[in-house]
Amino acid sequence: MKKLLGILVLATAVWLGLELSPSSGERATSATPTQWTSSSQCQACHEEVYAEWADSWHAKAWIDEDVRVQSADFSNKICIDCHAPRPVFETGIGNRVLPRSSRRAEGVDCISCHLLPDGTIAGTIDNPSAPCRPVARRELQRVDFCAGCHDQHKTVTQWKLTDHATNGTGCIECHMPLREGDPNAGRYHQMAGGHDLELVRSAVALRATRDEAGIAVEVENLMRAHSFPTDERSRAADVFYRSAPEDPEQRGGWTHLHRIRDPYRHEVDQPSTLLQATPEGPDGPWENNTEVHPVRPLRIAAEAAAGPIEVALFYKLAPYYRDGETVLVTEEVTDPLIDAQLVHRVVVP
Ligand code: HEC
Ligand code: HEC
Ligand code: HEC
Ligand code: HEC
Ligand code: HEC
Repeated sequence: MKKLLGILVLATAVWLGLELSPSSGERATSATPTQWTSSSQCQACHEEVYAEWADSWHAKAWIDEDVRVQSADFSNKICIDCHAPRPVFETGIGNRVLPRSSRRAEGVDCISCHLLPDGTIAGTIDNPSAPCRPVARRELQRVDFCAGCHDQHKTVTQWKLTDHATNGTGCIECHMPLREGDPNAGRYHQMAGGHDLELVRSAVALRATRDEAGIAVEVENLMRAHSFPTDERSRAADVFYRSAPEDPEQRGGWTHLHRIRDPYRHEVDQPSTLLQATPEGPDGPWENNTEVHPVRPLRIAAEAAAGPIEVALFYKLAPYYRDGETVLVTEEVTDPLIDAQLVHRVVVP
């Protein structure tokens, strides 16, 4: 019986990923510091956080199909840096992270964000008696913590110029909300972004009204925390319109009106048309530059706007339209519904 119990204890400890001296299992858990090398070690004790993380795009950063295509399966080595990084605390808060050579499939894992150089874990309170020996590190809550990976396209720089920065509403306030709003329940680790259509809907408004000259359309960056869309150059938002007679069968094809996007580096002739959050943004100032203003005015001429018109805002995770399984780099499409998502629509009588 005693032997069986011993095996059980050993099995549990191994399962938890704890290093165990063969003579005394119990002492080893508290006295011998565990080497944290994988997110799977944290799973058993932090089940809820682990499940949220596993469902996040941080967990998929290495296996993400779009990243695979664009990095040629990571033969472009620069891409490894942030998609399979070494711990942020090791390279230093705000510094660009470095690539790791093992367990790359775990992407941006628990270790990337929580492991401290001395082998302990960064948390919100000191708790030396907990098995992972968390230490309070306030840097974890700061925007500069995210900046080591998220300022490549200036999301953090954009935020620093906004009222949210003045009010102390940082990245985690919106992207890691408190579980059930309870300050003692910890923060949600799923970290929704562009893949969450409801979040995208909440970030932006579409308005359309008729006047003598045709239809006046406006798209507005409502969240004003950073540009819309932000961060990833592969995101794009497009405004389309089409005639909207009562009989759906009679509807015409979609006409492209405007694209909101930060062009890739090689697209030198294209200006950035992101909806900036502040006048001082990267492509500002606002004065005389409606192309970067958070409220973008657009027009559909009267000739094109006879009869009821449907105006719609579509959002794409990748700017190109897909043709079957291959990638097609063109904007000349007539049906955005094929692989873009409908964010908002307005019908103007
Ligand atoms: C400095 C850090 C960093 C480097 C280096 C980096 N990325 Fe990323 N990448 C990010 C971050 C942060 C995001 C998330 C931003 C977002 O979703 O808007 C991201 C998102 C992406 C996405 C969108 C994924 C999705 O879910 O749709 C693609 C594609 C991508 N990266 C490709 C690449 C490629 C290709 C390279 C190499 C040329 C690269 N990245 C290098 C930080 C980096
Ligand atoms: C054997 C169980 C066990 C393992 C394995 C474990 N932890 Fe913990 N951890 C705890 C306990 C118990 C606490 C203290 C109670 C709490 O805050 O949940 C804690 C606390 C924490 C805290 C601080 C929570 C706060 O409120 O500040 C963080 C962060 C943390 N763990 C991260 C990790 C990470 C990351 C890993 C894996 C590398 C890990 N833990 C592995 C049991 C464990
Ligand atoms: C992208 C960075 C990042 C990743 C990845 C990450 N965390 Fe966190 N974690 C944070 C931040 C930021 C906080 C919030 C700190 C605060 O509230 O002050 C946090 C808080 C926590 C806490 C405190 C209690 C709670 O639930 O908020 C625990 C425990 C924790 N993380 C464990 C984990 C574990 C386990 C994993 C992997 C499954 C993980 N974290 C992955 C950044 C991360
Ligand atoms: C070590 C690098 C790193 C750090 C630190 C980091 N991230 Fe990320 N984050 C990434 C990468 C890489 C992606 C893109 C993963 C993918 O889709 O391939 C990403 C994606 C995201 C997304 C987009 C999800 C979506 O729907 O596409 C959000 C939101 C996000 N991170 C928020 C945060 C916040 C908030 C922090 C700070 C608490 C943070 N991240 C810290 C690397 C990082
Ligand atoms: C006031 C709330 C708020 C704050 C503060 C905020 N965000 Fe966002 N963020 C959003 C909303 C809403 C979206 C969805 C719209 C979009 O994709 O632009 C978003 C989108 C994102 C995305 C996903 C972009 C993509 O292409 O998938 C990333 C990454 C991101 N934010 C990072 C950050 C970082 C880093 C900070 C801190 C500097 C931050 N956010 C602060 C609300 C906020």
